[in-house]
Amino acid sequence: MKDIITLGIESSCDETSVAVVKNGREVLSNVINSQIKIHEKFGGVVPEIASRNHVGAISKVTKQALEEANISFDNIDNIACTYGPGLVGALLVGVSYAKALSYALNKPLTGTNHLEGHIAANYISHKDLKPPFLCLIISGGHTHLVHIKDYGKFEILGKTRDDAIGEAFDKVARVIGLGYPGGPKVDKLAKDGKPTIELPKTHIEGLDFSFSGVKTAIINLHHKNPEINKSDLCSSLEKYVTDILLQNAIKASKTIETKTIALAGGVSANSYIREKFIDLEKQGYKIYYPEPILCTDNAAMIASAGYYRYISGNVSDLTLNAIPNLKIS
Ligand code: KG4
Ligand code: ZN
Repeated sequence: MKDIITLGIESSCDETSVAVVKNGREVLSNVINSQIKIHEKFGGVVPEIASRNHVGAISKVTKQALEEANISFDNIDNIACTYGPGLVGALLVGVSYAKALSYALNKPLTGTNHLEGHIAANYISHKDLKPPFLCLIISGGHTHLVHIKDYGKFEILGKTRDDAIGEAFDKVARVIGLGYPGGPKVDKLAKDGKPTIELPKTHIEGLDFSFSGVKTAIINLHHKNPEINKSDLCSSLEKYVTDILLQNAIKASKTIETKTIALAGGVSANSYIREKFIDLEKQGYKIYYPEPILCTDNAAMIASAGYYRYISGNVSDLTLNAIPNLKIS
């Protein structure tokens, strides 16, 4: 069979990324231009600034991705871009660029869901992974338990009712003075602490999540006692959220009768969360997670998800538009 080369384009938040992926699983290049340094001083992503920086970066990043993959535009079979969910102005840069390339090169276009991309990151890291399986997407914007029934066939089993898990990490980190983005900093500091701080449990029926209560509780604890041990606080936050993630993931795995769980999204880079999920292997589970660079936003995962859309004939036309609140279905 002829190889299929996908050019992936990701611009949903603060990373301008372009990748070249062969047959959905082999990364030939994955260039990630992060704007973290630009947004750091604001303590979070400023949407308008993100859009402007995507515009300034996207052509250069594309050129570099082609060079690193040692191919030209002629070798591309499919152009995949994220069209949602994400920041509308940021998404529009990638979508417009991908549409222009598709038109000028006369190549197919596949608009791709960012969350499908996070799931597909696991296909790149694990050549043996095939649906069906359960995926726990934990990122800065999302907390979803998804039944992956087949490539491109999903059912959401549970999601957050308020804050995404990454928001809780980032907000707590900001309040206790660790800076942005907070997740990796909480991860590091928690290693020196113990989960000794009692945090109030939020009870939710079913498989949904809620993280706003624990976030507010930690902010209040720090406000009342600024001298509180920050390492213990980070460690307690990690234990609290991990217990809930494990509880719901196990419940969901029983509902859909699978023992295969894949983690995805930026927060799946967290070392404590990974360790506790890997522990489930002692109970017969098979746990997958992407390598760290594929956990956070990148275009290789979009190219992989776009490849599976392309081979199933799910191709977009030039009316494709950015959809900031796009759902996975
Ligand atoms: O997937 P991602 O790049 O963006 C979204 O699609 O939202 O995830 C970014 C999130 C941020 O909240 C960041 O703090 C968090 O992932 N994150 C982590 C770690 N590395 C990144 N959270 C906890 N521990 C980490 N090691
Ligand atoms: Zn993401």
